[in-house]
Amino acid sequence: MHILHVVGARPNFMKAAPVMRVLGKWADVRQTLVHTGQHYDNNLSDVFFSQLSLPAPDANLEVGSGSHAWQTAEIMMRFEPVVLERKPDLVVVYGDVNSTLAAALVCSKLLIRVAHVEAGLRSFDHTMPEEINRIITDRLADVLFTPSEDADINLQREGIPANKICRVGNVMIDSLVQLLPLAMQCPRNGLPERYALVTLHRPSNVDDSASLRSIIKSLLDVSKQLEVVFPVHPRTRQRIAQFGINTEKLHLLEPLPYIEFLALQNRAAVVITDSGGIQEETTYLGIPCLTLRSNTERPVTVSMGTNVLVGQDLALLNSELAKILEGKAKIGSIPPLWDGHAGERIADALHP
Ligand code: UD1
Repeated sequence: MHILHVVGARPNFMKAAPVMRVLGKWADVRQTLVHTGQHYDNNLSDVFFSQLSLPAPDANLEVGSGSHAWQTAEIMMRFEPVVLERKPDLVVVYGDVNSTLAAALVCSKLLIRVAHVEAGLRSFDHTMPEEINRIITDRLADVLFTPSEDADINLQREGIPANKICRVGNVMIDSLVQLLPLAMQCPRNGLPERYALVTLHRPSNVDDSASLRSIIKSLLDVSKQLEVVFPVHPRTRQRIAQFGINTEKLHLLEPLPYIEFLALQNRAAVVITDSGGIQEETTYLGIPCLTLRSNTERPVTVSMGTNVLVGQDLALLNSELAKILEGKAKIGSIPPLWDGHAGERIADALHP
């Protein structure tokens, strides 16, 4: 059996690695890895390959950055000949990035089976590009691997037949479980003992000058009580420069490799973020997470985990932060099947 995996952007790598590792143990499975090149900076891409022990890609489409239409179309045009040449029996796509959607569209038209890992998540917010990618990818996929019960319910509500849905748990947590021991040995590198860890890259937060300005202002307020450590996504760095926003009191870093970032999360007093994956990782680690969004496609992190949605409500951010600093943070638990074995369940389901 020939399985082709498609990755493109940072959050894909930690999802594909565990699946490829387990499938690699089957003698009758041949695997091909295609990198679309949606993320191309070393610290958003290459370093993840080495830390997660992903094999070098068999093909890199080197698509780079552009508008959504341009990027999606370009991936489709460059991916189609690769699939035609390599003739996989099944293509596995991960998460909700433009590379995921583009690959699923190409394969469905070539009548090649598609498996979607991390299916069924819904924010119900159609202004979010990832939500469009999720809905269409799930509609096209033949096998839908879900991380939690809410995802199964969303898919059933959309009329996806139950026999296509397979709940396997959270595959990203497999990578976390595997590499946490290494993260715990990371040196502190001069970072403060107690700090708030911040990440920010959602277009709705960073592309608009007023909203980015107000978020940074509230982070400057936070920094009066707690040092703010902020590895900055390239999109956000560009916007901060473009809008001329002063971030002097914040501890800005370059985007970090997987293990170093995991170490920072695990030692943080609180994480303030608009990322999807980080809401899940903090829930697993039991670290308080304040999410700068008014909705989430990962509601289990709120109902069971440590996540609190604060949107852009700065008063709420402050009151939640005060609770955490007083030692009254929300206590969470780890959702079912977030146990480090989701990759095995996926491999078992894929293997004929
Ligand atoms: C993408 C995903 C998002 C994911 C995020 C993680 C989509 C729609 N969005 O958003 O779901 O959470 O990745 O980072 O697929 N850039 C670089 N170097 C790179 C890549 C990008 O400098 O290696 C800059 C470019 O200026 C680019 C901008 O970052 O225009 C945004 O990159 P893009 O891949 O379009 O989307 P992300 O915001 O990273």
